[in-house]
Amino acid sequence: MKGIIMAGGSGTRLYPLTKAVSKQILPIYDKPMIYYPLSVLMLAGIREILLISTPRDVEVFKNLLGDGKHLGISIEYAIQNHPNGLAEAFIIGEKFIDHSPVALILGDNIFYGTDFGNKVQEAASLIKGGIIFGCFVKDPRAYGVVEVDEHDNAISIEEKPEEPKSSYAVPGLYFFDYQVVEIAKKVTPSTRGELEITSVIEQYIARRELKVELLGRGLAWLDTGTNESWLEACNFVEAVQKRQGLYIACIEEIAFRRGYISRQQLQDLAFPLMKTNYGKYLMEIANSKNSMPLLYSY
Ligand code: TTP
Repeated sequence: MKGIIMAGGSGTRLYPLTKAVSKQILPIYDKPMIYYPLSVLMLAGIREILLISTPRDVEVFKNLLGDGKHLGISIEYAIQNHPNGLAEAFIIGEKFIDHSPVALILGDNIFYGTDFGNKVQEAASLIKGGIIFGCFVKDPRAYGVVEVDEHDNAISIEEKPEEPKSSYAVPGLYFFDYQVVEIAKKVTPSTRGELEITSVIEQYIARRELKVELLGRGLAWLDTGTNESWLEACNFVEAVQKRQGLYIACIEEIAFRRGYISRQQLQDLAFPLMKTNYGKYLMEIANSKNSMPLLYSY
């Protein structure tokens, strides 16, 4: 399974913050937003990653993450010239995908919860069809809403419905088989002029090949597209990290715990960060005898 992070877009709901920089480079408490979706792909065991951003912003991500070798993964970069919609990821990424199954995650989505690592790892073993998630929300009218049968098959998806058929919103994390490239190529722009991910999902539903993994109380799903939701996400991360002493989306920690890098490599990554709690946290993990504490939180 390969992975794509969509980190383009226009970020207009965060203006003037995002007038000159990418939304996905803004901090969520103590680390750049992009760490959060990247950590999800890494937790899923996906080590070949394509990051798609705007012509203006792609260099910043290259400076931040490089080729990924220091994390034991590979990161490539591609450009989306205009925010033409999420389904364009599969067209831009066609060569990278190369007939493999692929996960797509949005650059501004944050996930955190019990057993989430196992859930995404399982989804990443997909070979045929697709898997999306359904998050229980109080008011689903602002989201894509999925209707599910008793065997976890998706029956319908509706974008921002007035009268939702379920309480399950679809977050920005999708797993598809190799067919997704051809499906995306056939999508026509919506009335708002975008190649919608919903159109791709509808195709999988029509083929009866789309499963939904429902996520309940144990999972926090936050998106960070408005000032309010951004601040809530920052506060959430601070509260969890302070209380538990376990970090959310610490990509170096995940690389170490998943066995992508050695203890020595983790120490080397921690060393230049020692003025920060982040660096001290990494060093603690690198120096701890037990590299797999029972309270492994992902
Ligand atoms: P959105 O929140 O739909 O859009 P946006 O980030 O451009 O923000 P705004 O509505 O404030 O103008 O995007 C969700 C995520 O998907 C975000 O991380 C940006 C990314 N995205 C792309 O990379 N390319 C696209 O064409 C679109 C529509 C979104």
